[in-house]
Amino acid sequence: MMKKPFYLTTPLYYVNAAPHIGHSYTTIASDCLARYHRLKGEEVFFLTGTDEHGEKIARAAKQSGTSPQEFVDKNSEKFKKLWKTLNISYDFFLRTTDASHREVVKRALNALRPTLIEGTFSSWYCVPCETSFGTSEVDASHPLCLNCKRPLEQVEEVDFSLHLEDHRRWLKEYMLGHEEFILPPERRNEMLSLLENELPDLCITRPKERVEWGIAVPFSDRHVAYVWFDALLNYISALGWPEGERFPRYWKEAGAVHIVGKDILRHHAIYWPIALHVLGIPPPQTIFAHGWWKVGEEKMSKSKGNVIDPLDMVSKYGVDPYRYFLLREVPFGQDGVFSEEALVTRLNNDLANDLGNLVYRALTMVEKYFEGKVPEAKKTKDLESEALLETVDQKMERFQFDGALLAIWELIRRANQFIEEKAPWKIAKAKDTQTLSSVLYELLETLKGVSLFIYPFIPSTAESIWNQIGISQKISSASYEDLGKPLVLAGTKIRKGEILYQKVER
Ligand code: MSP
Repeated sequence: MMKKPFYLTTPLYYVNAAPHIGHSYTTIASDCLARYHRLKGEEVFFLTGTDEHGEKIARAAKQSGTSPQEFVDKNSEKFKKLWKTLNISYDFFLRTTDASHREVVKRALNALRPTLIEGTFSSWYCVPCETSFGTSEVDASHPLCLNCKRPLEQVEEVDFSLHLEDHRRWLKEYMLGHEEFILPPERRNEMLSLLENELPDLCITRPKERVEWGIAVPFSDRHVAYVWFDALLNYISALGWPEGERFPRYWKEAGAVHIVGKDILRHHAIYWPIALHVLGIPPPQTIFAHGWWKVGEEKMSKSKGNVIDPLDMVSKYGVDPYRYFLLREVPFGQDGVFSEEALVTRLNNDLANDLGNLVYRALTMVEKYFEGKVPEAKKTKDLESEALLETVDQKMERFQFDGALLAIWELIRRANQFIEEKAPWKIAKAKDTQTLSSVLYELLETLKGVSLFIYPFIPSTAESIWNQIGISQKISSASYEDLGKPLVLAGTKIRKGEILYQKVER
């Protein structure tokens, strides 16, 4: 039977600087979803990449004294390297400077050409956000970006633009008719309220005299494509639009799920569906806008000089504690304040105390009482790890990573309690081998369930537990169906390793 397809994307990250915690957050959350859908037996196409054109990148390249191409080549690698470190299981990495992507942008521009209006446009421009604001939206005596609050630049130039207003009513009706289109609901309401007022035209070109570093517009030798228009098209160019096989399978059959930060929701929820509509392509299925990681009261961002390097956090605390913290600490969709202290608390309590101890205790007892071999017994229903799947499913379908983890940790705590209650050391003393086998077998089977449940969130830990309990099949090819299969086989040698997490002293 053909597997069900699932299409998931992160934004394409600007390569003007090295990635920070905010970027890693979007990617880790997406990776978690991708792994979850693979465990459900779906065929996942998980896309990420880098946004490499435009004024902001050109200026950063100039500042660093290198050509834009050399600059983007070097910085795009930093993202790839970080994703490798963070265990990101993307299927495709798209760079907007890739020849195949550039071709798609040109084709889309040609297809839109008959609907474009050429004219002189005045606007306020935010280079860091690469976003224009209408003259009526900005206070001219104090021109600050509506999004990031940085100073705006005034521009007046001849461009080609899309007349968004023609499609406002269609988009509003679509949004009202599809609750899952924009999530979470409070963000959907924001977008709906934007659609209450007339939409300004969207310039999808930039004159070369101002911005040279971009994709040439096929019908005007005076223009390059606007960097946002270029970047948004990645979501279909990665699928080989229009002829590529992946396009019908992942865009139409699956429906795209775009994970983005709330600062770029307007581009995704308004500009992008309208551009697609004009091209005759249906909108993505879901756009989920998450919140910001802040340092104190401020959004973490390079220009504010308050960025935290994910590599520093990982070298201090490890990859999985970092991933766990980001996904567990703050409900997805809300803002959070990044603090190392809070990370250490999660590491010491949830990971070292609850999970690490459970694994260590269970395996130590198998070594001590059964010479390190899985005892012969039937799975009982004592800990009910299979029943957890329904709850995890409900949470994950709603992007509630923290809620899923909370439910998984209830199982882990129940298992620790089970050890206390059953007191296997007493059963061993009473020489009741059958009961002892049954208790330890239940613990090993529960650890199998725990590994599968935590795999999307903290994959290395999951793999380590999976291997320690002696399962020979690879966890990367496992599925939730394995919850009901006896994979922990009597007589197999377990491979108890080092303790999973060292506590961090404060
Ligand atoms: N290049 C555009 C996206 C184009 S997609 C067709 C862009 N890039 S970005 O590098 O500036 O940001 C990418 C993502 O990182 C956004 O989703 C953004 O919200 C996220 N984050 C950047 N800083 C962040 C925080 N401080 N906290 C959480 N995420 C934030 O926008």
